[in-house]
Amino acid sequence: MRLERIANVADARKIAKRTIPGVLFDYIDGAADDEATMRANTVAFDEVVFRPRVGLDVREPDMTTTVLGAKLSMPLLLAPTGLAEVMHRDGAVGAARAAASRGTICVLSTVAGSPVEQVAPAAPGSVWFQLYAGGSRSEADKLLARAEAAGVSVLVVTMDTPTLGNRERDRRHGVTPPLRLDAHNAIHLGPQVLARPLWTYRMARHGVSTLRSAQDTPLLSAARSAVAGQWLKLSGRSVPDGPRTQGHGVLRMVSSPFTWADVEHLKARWSGKLVVKGVLRGDDARISVDLGADAVIISNHGGRQLDGAPATLSVLPEVADAVGDSAEVMLDGGVRRGTHVLKAVALGARAVFIGRPFLYGLATAGQLGVEHILDLFQSEITRDMILLGCQDLAELSPTWLRVPTR
Ligand SMILES: Cc1cc2nc3c(=O)[nH]c(=O)nc-3n(C[C@H](O)[C@H](O)[C@H](O)COP(=O)(O)O)c2cc1C
Repeated sequence: MRLERIANVADARKIAKRTIPGVLFDYIDGAADDEATMRANTVAFDEVVFRPRVGLDVREPDMTTTVLGAKLSMPLLLAPTGLAEVMHRDGAVGAARAAASRGTICVLSTVAGSPVEQVAPAAPGSVWFQLYAGGSRSEADKLLARAEAAGVSVLVVTMDTPTLGNRERDRRHGVTPPLRLDAHNAIHLGPQVLARPLWTYRMARHGVSTLRSAQDTPLLSAARSAVAGQWLKLSGRSVPDGPRTQGHGVLRMVSSPFTWADVEHLKARWSGKLVVKGVLRGDDARISVDLGADAVIISNHGGRQLDGAPATLSVLPEVADAVGDSAEVMLDGGVRRGTHVLKAVALGARAVFIGRPFLYGLATAGQLGVEHILDLFQSEITRDMILLGCQDLAELSPTWLRVPTR
């Protein structure tokens, strides 16, 4: 695939759809119930319009910023996402290296598919760790200790997953948590795998051998690798040489019922910076800050949890007001364009995260694909700032926008 032909995130999505098996594409692309919140996230950006300035000599606009003390080349980070390993063999390491190469940060998910000991050293200083509960506090503490030992200094606690959202696309593929993975599932998914020979080839070269058992054909193993092996491998217990799927097992998509008491516990336990992800209200943001969060991420999990939750941009002013200067406010969900990034920054976000866009890139061309997506954002933001008449990100404020009133 010639990356230069991918002109925007929507193109990357189309190519990803043609590259990976349907079950994986739908895992990335899908959301909860009717997927209304997922759509609303992007619509909210498009409904806000700019009030551009003319007559200014803007050249080489400055989009650098700092997030929790780290200097970033642009106000855009990679969100934590599960299963990066099965999209492309470059996996979470590739995503982290891409982020580092472009001067930004990647948040490693508890269920990404690669252990923090492998990912953090691959991109020193550019990896944060996202925590799911996945069991007891002592298990969480063990994960924290491992992240700390690997050199991670920022912990992201995801609060919006007390149970899993209703992802109907996954169910239609027979992927229902918890799924007992057996030969029947593998056979069911086999045709999808066969229909994506490039992906199957890459996976077969990279991952199947660790998952193959005596009775498996390579095809069954590839299917298993796709939907379970990597998923299962971490699922809250990311031990590098820990148990692998041995023929069949329970596919544990993670629910993570964190409470505020857990946040308090984690704050006491974690020596670095703490970020609370998944707030959608000013009062919850305030509680996070009062408990010691250094930043909050406004997020509805990309519409994958509660369908009917508000678009993240729509609650940004409320959260920014509630938090004031006491913490940094970030946002994710539906960011697909440089203009979206600038709108969020103008409304008070320090930076935004992208989830699906970088996974489309990863699925398409691994690390290079993620770098390409980051390059697209960077060049869009540059052009948009020039067109907007904005020399420096710090100039942006709500006065640069017209926000629809409802
Ligand atoms: C495939 C996929 C897996 C995800 N896995 C996680 C995860 O493991 N932990 C987490 O906190 N959020 C997870 N998220 C949510 C993202 O961190 C982020 O909130 C969301 O993707 C942002 O929306 P966007 O995809 O529209 O950019 C996941 C999202 C996707 C699309």
